[in-house]
Amino acid sequence: MALIPELLTIATTAAEATVDLLLDRVDGSVEVNEKSSTTDLVTEVDREAEALIVGIVTSNRPDDGIVGEEGTGIEGTTSVRWIIDPIDGTTNFVYGHPGFSVSIAVEIDGELAVGVVGDPLHRDTFTATKGEGAFRNGRPIGVSGATELSRSLVATGFGYDREWRMAQGAVVTQLLGEVADIRRMGSAAVDLCSVACGRVDAYFERGLNIWDFAAGSLIASEAGAIVHDLHGGPPTKRFTFASSPGIASPLADLLTRLGADQI
Ligand code: IPD
Repeated sequence: MALIPELLTIATTAAEATVDLLLDRVDGSVEVNEKSSTTDLVTEVDREAEALIVGIVTSNRPDDGIVGEEGTGIEGTTSVRWIIDPIDGTTNFVYGHPGFSVSIAVEIDGELAVGVVGDPLHRDTFTATKGEGAFRNGRPIGVSGATELSRSLVATGFGYDREWRMAQGAVVTQLLGEVADIRRMGSAAVDLCSVACGRVDAYFERGLNIWDFAAGSLIASEAGAIVHDLHGGPPTKRFTFASSPGIASPLADLLTRLGADQI
């Protein structure tokens, strides 16, 4: 099998196995701990899910590199690196609130080639491969086509540091007067897929880690979204922005004026 289809098959298999695990465990009692702050949660299921994904990847591709939110750091000897968030939106998972997901991206030579996001409670699997479009449960998806900022639904998220969250809230307060409405759903990977399928018109956040945005940013860009930081570079921890093209410039300009990446 050619490399990209092989990687997509493995990533989809691992995401589907994780979706089954998360569905099995979401309503049970799980051990919850705090990470970087009292709002940054991790559960035993995050660790089990990461071990499950890493096991599937390494049994198929033992020499690839892997980075995972719960601590996996394997230096590979191939051109392939896997980027894993076993549960993106752990707070939603802990509360049994829809919108948590598993996110698996694969880079070849440092370029995103494959993205898979599984959203268990919505029974959605989003997939994309570089240059081949984006799909939801196997059907092609595309962005909303929004053209007016004042009529646009914009998603965002907040980091775990208290000062940072308050500054992000101040930006959103200003933004509320300029857009139709705001959504804060709790999984960056799902938010990016929501841009991809037109469920929101745009999404932005500061402070994400690569495992939060890697798969979703490929899915969004393959669905036709403009995906970048606030200055035209690739999305980073400093800023992740994804938008239907018709509102991308005015929204990015407004966020720049509001200092959204300067907090
Ligand atoms: C979090 C989610 C959330 C976002 C946070 C992320 P995690 O990921 O994506 O929506 O606002 O910034 O850290 O910690 O649940 O994997």
